[in-house]
Amino acid sequence: MQTEKPIIIAHRGAKGMAPENTLGAFRLGVEQGCEAIELDVHLSADGEIIVCHDETLDRTTNGKGMICEKTLAEIKSLDAGSWHSEAYRGETVPTLGEVFDAVPGSLMINVEVKQSYDGNMDRKLVQFLRERDLFDRVVVSSFDHQCLHRIKVLEPKTKIGLLYQLRLYNPAAYAKTFGVDVYSLHPYHRLIDREEVEQAIRAGLHMYPYTANEEQDLKALIDWGVSGIITDYPGRLKDLLALGGV
Ligand code: G3P
Ligand code: MG
Repeated sequence: MQTEKPIIIAHRGAKGMAPENTLGAFRLGVEQGCEAIELDVHLSADGEIIVCHDETLDRTTNGKGMICEKTLAEIKSLDAGSWHSEAYRGETVPTLGEVFDAVPGSLMINVEVKQSYDGNMDRKLVQFLRERDLFDRVVVSSFDHQCLHRIKVLEPKTKIGLLYQLRLYNPAAYAKTFGVDVYSLHPYHRLIDREEVEQAIRAGLHMYPYTANEEQDLKALIDWGVSGIITDYPGRLKDLLALGGV
């Protein structure tokens, strides 16, 4: 049974109601009561950290092409809101710096690294975190666990979180094989059960499953005692937690 309430983590902002990974979506998440946001990052051709889920601009802007082949100026000229709705026309693709400038300093930020095959993202992200001294409020996650290991070695102050979407035999034990401290586990929410959550918490890991939106799923995760829930609907989770006694 849960002892502490999980923190509310707005997935790509309040993705269920606003264009994902835009300042508008992050602000809406904050209005709805989130305590953290999850966002995804890529590097532009000129080495800026760009907040976007896909490696291309096609789905979430009025532009086309790979982010890694565009300059920041080219990316900033695009509209990232009108594909979603008229109300959000004029949103742009934010840089990571713009997100930190826009959201309250109390918010935890889960930065998901989408790819860093050449290690450039590792260096850029660590430099960014150092310049702004963000180690207390940032968790860097990725499905690329080698990348996370490199980042942790490069800057041991970084909190790293392992994303996984396949059933691991014993995720808590796996995390202990890293040889560096792992802060959190970020499983696809349908993979886990109460035992796996309890194992992780007992091992001193935070457990942040993604992306749960349905009331019955949210209730189960709350009951199992997860540390936080990544959701497209932070307001829905806020309301459930306010009801208590899940
Ligand atoms: O970080 C949790 C979740 O965002 C991972 O999947 O595809 O939504 O980035 P995706
Ligand atoms: Mg993500």
